[in-house]
Amino acid sequence: MVDKTENTHKSIEQAEKEGKYIRKVRSFVKREGRLTKGQASALEQFWPTMGLNHLDGMIDFADLFNNSNAIILEIGFGMGKSLVEMAKNAPELNFVGVEVHRPGVGACISLADEEGVNNLKVFEHDAIEVLADCIPNGSLTTVQLFFPDPWHKKKHHKRRIVSLEFVETIRQKLKVGGVFHMATDWENYAECMIEDMNSAPGYKNLATDGDFVPRPDSRPLTKFENRGNNLGHGVWDIQFKRQD
Ligand SMILES: C[S@@+](CC[C@H](N)C(=O)[O-])C[C@H]1O[C@@H](n2cnc3c(N)ncnc32)[C@H](O)[C@@H]1O
Repeated sequence: MVDKTENTHKSIEQAEKEGKYIRKVRSFVKREGRLTKGQASALEQFWPTMGLNHLDGMIDFADLFNNSNAIILEIGFGMGKSLVEMAKNAPELNFVGVEVHRPGVGACISLADEEGVNNLKVFEHDAIEVLADCIPNGSLTTVQLFFPDPWHKKKHHKRRIVSLEFVETIRQKLKVGGVFHMATDWENYAECMIEDMNSAPGYKNLATDGDFVPRPDSRPLTKFENRGNNLGHGVWDIQFKRQD
């Protein structure tokens, strides 16, 4: 079904003026992939301890984790394998994952339980809304965005999650000194990310040689990175620090 409000900015503004519900351009298309038995039972069993609900509003992280450890937010964790590995390797940090794909959320919490990880909570929701409604300003030590959907075709670039507005939102959510870490295997997206980060005020690029940082050892190989490697794609890591 064609969403007519997405055709032009003018029609969105017009519809907003008229007070209509607007479904803005999203960075994902909801795939109704079937849940495996394991994912379904993990969602049922572990959601009460690991799940976070968008409708519950702003989070008090110290209250949520019962400690004042640093918070790492990962957007679009896919099946969650690398996120669980990071959380397991760093019990002194707290991790929050945001993913819209339900089977991925189920797989992530199933693995987290299997690995005995208890410093991880997850949302099954659009990260744009979670950032706006649930994450306090100045609360995050790191934001991770690994292999976001590249939306290859030019006419679909408006769906890319990274935009000037998005990187400004991330800056507000980071603590001063906090780091926004992105990785992509799509060169054009990497260039656009750098362009947005350079245009946004209040960030400093942590790269010392050119625009990109070497692949950090702390980032486990993700499913999409592995796929990109097999297709012969390069990988670009980008790390900027919030300066003010
Ligand atoms: C290409 S996959 C990469 C997954 C994983 N990071 C990896 O490297 O294997 C991108 C993921 O981002 C999720 N995603 C896209 N837009 C999102 C949004 N606005 N909020 C939360 N998740 C989103 C998709 O559902 C998908 O699982």
